[in-house]
Amino acid sequence: MGIVKQVTILGSTSTIGVNTLDVISTNRDKYSVFALTANTNIDLLEQQCRTYAPTYAALRHEKLARELGERLSDLPTVVVGGDNSLCDVASHPDTDMVMAAILGSAGLQPTLAAVRAGKRILLANKESLVMSGKLFMEQVRSNEAMLLPIDSEHNAIYQCLANGAVGHASGVKRLILTGSGGPLLRADISKMITVTPDQACAHPNWKMGRKISVDSATMMNKGLELLEASFLFDISPGLIDVMIHPESIVHSMVEYLDGSVVAQLGNPDMRTPIAHGLAWPDRVPSSVEPLNLTSNSGLHFEEVDHDRFPCLRLAREISEEPQGLFIALNAANEVAVKCFLDELIAFTDIPVIIEAVLEQTKAEEAPTIESVIELDRAARELALNRVNRKS
Ligand SMILES: NC(=O)c1ccc[n+]([C@@H]2O[C@H](COP(=O)([O-])OP(=O)(O)OC[C@H]3O[C@@H](n4cnc5c(N)ncnc54)[C@H](OP(=O)(O)O)[C@@H]3O)[C@@H](O)[C@H]2O)c1
Repeated sequence: MGIVKQVTILGSTSTIGVNTLDVISTNRDKYSVFALTANTNIDLLEQQCRTYAPTYAALRHEKLARELGERLSDLPTVVVGGDNSLCDVASHPDTDMVMAAILGSAGLQPTLAAVRAGKRILLANKESLVMSGKLFMEQVRSNEAMLLPIDSEHNAIYQCLANGAVGHASGVKRLILTGSGGPLLRADISKMITVTPDQACAHPNWKMGRKISVDSATMMNKGLELLEASFLFDISPGLIDVMIHPESIVHSMVEYLDGSVVAQLGNPDMRTPIAHGLAWPDRVPSSVEPLNLTSNSGLHFEEVDHDRFPCLRLAREISEEPQGLFIALNAANEVAVKCFLDELIAFTDIPVIIEAVLEQTKAEEAPTIESVIELDRAARELALNRVNRKS
């Protein structure tokens, strides 16, 4: 039997975190849970600690950490709290790999801490790469960390590339990111203003958290993925196309210069990329239903309608610009989506707010983590001002 790998899950209460624990349950002889973290959901975190008995549980809020510590006083799990607690468990010498599954910009610092400690990072938190891509990838290289993409599209591309990188000699012509088009693919555009949070979150194929579900409905998710892919695979955004594929079976493709198109297929279930990230370069079972192509009603592909999905157009328009605009796009989107989910603004206000923030943001690089945080803060303020003018 091989050595059991110690896994830290940043954001274990997320959809991705829950799926990661499920894959670990299927492979208990190979993986053990070292640390789990959450934001406020201590009921689920407590339950997860009782099932997986991690060495550590971490919560940023000291008060919640104390409460969880009291609840878990019968277990050997040590509960740590405070701003640095997530970074500490992510970079702990005894953890072998870190699943980065915290939602949004809150995931940046703990994920970077794991990178700086040279860990194997299973990257679900695409926002951290969008915000700090160049800096992040430099840190990956200089600390000899290993980055395995968990976003199903990027994981698919990773599997379609010979060694996970585009490189100069690999003969790649373009990457093709597929996207289902979400729940509003066929909706009447003139009625989009009345779309409710529940309608926007009713994704036809994937079960995900509410923020990324709204991102799928606006297709900002694909915009963030375009930027993420350009950093991950070191390729110009101009060589990355997006295609609608409503069935979510082909998770993405790589077209080579000789005309070959290599695709990765599977049922829409995040346990497949998670199992791939955990086991690479080996394979482990994931408990995902086997793909049955003969019972399928066909695989369809179509071009993106940018009038229907202005968020994707905005991401594409800034994709060759300096990092500062990526930070602004991500921050404005996080604020706008939260306000939409809180029913303060309409669905159609989301791209309007993002565009207004981009127009007011200087196109500049963000070479340090401090500059990333400052540009993120400034863009959030602009977005909130815009929301306040609307409501
Ligand atoms: N869901 C998917 O299928 C999918 C696919 C590809 C990529 N991703 C990416 O994976 C990440 C997670 O997505 P999700 O849909 O799984 O998320 P989710 O279900 O909405 O859960 C969000 C997670 O982040 C934690 N969190 C939120 N704010 C935090 C803060 N300020 N500090 C520390 N932790 C915080 C939450 O803790 P509490 O539960 O305590 O609030 C929870 O664990 C995102 O970056 C998303 O883009 C997700």
